[in-house]
Amino acid sequence: MNLRGIGYIGLNVPDRQAWDRFAAEVVGLEPVARTAGDPDASYFTADERQWRIAVREAATAGVGFVGFEVPGEAAFDEVVTSLVEAGVALTAATPEELRERGAQAMVWFDDPEGTRLEIFWGPVVDFPFRPPVGGHRFVTDGGLGHAVLMVRDLPGALAFYKDVLGFRTSDFMNFGPDMAIHFLHCTPRHHTIALSAVGPVSGTHHIAFEVETVDQVGEAFDRATAAGLDITASLGRHKNDRMLSFYMRSPAGFEVEIGCDPVLIDEDTWVANEFTGGDSWGHHGLTSESLAESVAGQ
Ligand code: FE2
Repeated sequence: MNLRGIGYIGLNVPDRQAWDRFAAEVVGLEPVARTAGDPDASYFTADERQWRIAVREAATAGVGFVGFEVPGEAAFDEVVTSLVEAGVALTAATPEELRERGAQAMVWFDDPEGTRLEIFWGPVVDFPFRPPVGGHRFVTDGGLGHAVLMVRDLPGALAFYKDVLGFRTSDFMNFGPDMAIHFLHCTPRHHTIALSAVGPVSGTHHIAFEVETVDQVGEAFDRATAAGLDITASLGRHKNDRMLSFYMRSPAGFEVEIGCDPVLIDEDTWVANEFTGGDSWGHHGLTSESLAESVAGQ
């Protein structure tokens, strides 16, 4: 299994216009027009890829789909074979879906909590990134940021992502009986997916984007406060991935984290350990209780 992180992500939001403004004017993603795109979706890019984020209107907010990329046709065939052997019910993309995704091939399936996951190869690269605000660049080595998903059945979700999809544990925190968060990687990026259980909630806590410098994080923080957004976790540095970041409430309810300076995983030397607390400093507002709150409103 050779997943290269998140290639693209689809977001469901109740108010697309509000999320589009937030994406461009606060996060600093570049809106892109795509002739092959879904007319009912907005598309954004974060680098030289034609698109990275698709936004659609839906009653329930959160991650609608995650596209994990593989490096090419051979790797794609290997993953498909491995998933079929594991008993995963795969659906091949239709020609229309392939055009819309801008991929050479794609299969999709649901994770145990019902999140649609896609495996694809051959994304379209067609223009340089031009941030609509600020002078930042997004760091997309190892994939487009990460997503933190709240799950009802943590052992079941972990078994799927690790045993079937090949993710490895970076580290984890236990909050209490049956309450924990596990950070999983498939590239040197510290985590591409984190799975957390804090009670009977299932959904998206946050998605995260990495920028290059502390100043670029600060500029995003200024844009968020100027826009009157709820800063759900103040500036701080996580103990585990060492990311310096802040979190804000997106117009869809789920949170968005902007950060920089994370540790990278060297598979040969990495030790997967347990942490007893989330942060070296800051990130006030981010607690095991707040993990559930963002999802409960979706
Ligand atoms: Fe995060």
